[in-house]
Amino acid sequence: MPFDIAAIVLAAGAGTRMRSKRPKVLHSLAGRTLLEHALRAAYTIEPAALVTVVGHGREAVAAEIADIGARLHTPIDIAIQDRQLGTGHAVSCGLSAFGDRIPGTVVITSADVPLLDGATLAALVDTHVGGSAGVTVLTFTPADPGGYGRIVRDETGRVARIVEHADATAQERAIGEVNSGIYAFDGQVLIDALTRLRTDNAQGELYLTDVIGLARAAGRDVLASPVTDPSVVLGVNDRVQLAAAGAALNTRLLERHMTNGVTVVDPATTRVDMDVRIEPDVTLEPGVHLHGATAIAEGAVIGPDTTLTDVEVGAGAQVIRTHADSAIIGPGATVGPFAYLRPGSRLGEAAKVGTFVETKNAQIGAHSKVPHLTYVGDASVGEYSNIGASSVFVNYDGVEKNHTVIGSHVRTGSDNMFVAPVRVGDGAYTGAGTVVRSDVPPGALSVTASDQRIIEGWVLRKRSGTPSAEAAQAALTGRAVTAARPREHNDNGRRPLTQDGEQ
Ligand code: UD1
Ligand code: CA
Repeated sequence: MPFDIAAIVLAAGAGTRMRSKRPKVLHSLAGRTLLEHALRAAYTIEPAALVTVVGHGREAVAAEIADIGARLHTPIDIAIQDRQLGTGHAVSCGLSAFGDRIPGTVVITSADVPLLDGATLAALVDTHVGGSAGVTVLTFTPADPGGYGRIVRDETGRVARIVEHADATAQERAIGEVNSGIYAFDGQVLIDALTRLRTDNAQGELYLTDVIGLARAAGRDVLASPVTDPSVVLGVNDRVQLAAAGAALNTRLLERHMTNGVTVVDPATTRVDMDVRIEPDVTLEPGVHLHGATAIAEGAVIGPDTTLTDVEVGAGAQVIRTHADSAIIGPGATVGPFAYLRPGSRLGEAAKVGTFVETKNAQIGAHSKVPHLTYVGDASVGEYSNIGASSVFVNYDGVEKNHTVIGSHVRTGSDNMFVAPVRVGDGAYTGAGTVVRSDVPPGALSVTASDQRIIEGWVLRKRSGTPSAEAAQAALTGRAVTAARPREHNDNGRRPLTQDGEQ
């Protein structure tokens, strides 16, 4: 019984030229595997059935297909091709997933063509269905056609057949128009032709491309649907092409964001994943990498040199030279330079996390500041509080992680240790160098009191002959301190000389 439109995505190949333990189609571009890019493109034409042909690395590939199906809320069938006997054989395996049902149209794509978009596929299907063709081939004319199957046209200019590079004559290799490996087939034409494929070719494989000549022989028309932008059908066979496809995709994404009102100061050093959302009037300075489900609200300035993964940035925030993962940065907040926000960091409105500050599972309330050289782990800080420089939230007792709570309008001194679990109440102060081991009530001052001792002359007695002792001696006797060179730089091996030549 015929049904409307089916899509088959070929993903069984070994991908040998990647030289990777990972199956080729599981390599990623812009936060998605090659396979996910291909399946999403196929999904956009709303096929009645979507099947992926897997073989090489099938367990890992099947697991990824299950994940993608869950994300797209659609079932994706898997057909196994045990041995890779060629693209024609792969399609036969794919068709077996439909049982006795014969699709009206079968769209075939490759999992290694990540930039193919839904619009290009839809145009292919329109050309095919509108022209009542037996086959419609998506073609393009690359700068170098080497390696691709060439589109051979007859004297009237109609597509006659496809000849693989390995089988082509010198004359055929001079043809510039090539096969992208993406097609729409009439279901019955495809099924009939696949039974007639032979392996008498240079690679000893069952070529899907031979269906084109067979369809013509059966009296059906074959159409070409040319794409003008070759990057759309860029195939990834090795890591050089992976990088080229990544660059082309990134350019496409950045152009979309710029068109939507985002300033990208240096596109060459800016990377943005597929699912990243950026509102108008955001500025991305050079060296910004935005990954995963990162979302940047209006007017924020990100970078230079900042990497955000699954981070939410509020309107007007500034994030400078920062590495952040699974964090929330409130509107108007400032972060960096040189900050590290680890998972569970949540900064309120106009909060500040400054230079050489690391946070983890930490809430920093609105208008609160952690300006310098501090680790905030497993803590919550209220609003309008200030954490003094060089402090550590001592969250780990060697066995468990414990929580610290700092209230609002708190002022903690520099170089504090908050030994968790501990609480500092609203409006409390702590002195410099305080080790906070017990809770500080609201409004109290906490200091770790221990009188400063002065032991006069200790250096002169215990460190005599050192530059320190000599400097001290000079200061105590009222003479100018000389620029005595350190002992080890003295090539005569003797103690440094003072200005007037004494040793
Ligand atoms: C194929 C086309 C060629 C076209 C080129 C475009 C054939 C015979 N040739 O060549 O005309 O210009 O794509 O990139 O079709 N695959 C399987 N099982 C197999 C063999 C391949 O699933 O037994 C899959 C691969 O994983 C890949 C796709 O089919 O996704 C294409 O196979 P590949 O070997 O890369 O074909 P090409 O030699 O590039
Ligand atoms: Ca290929």
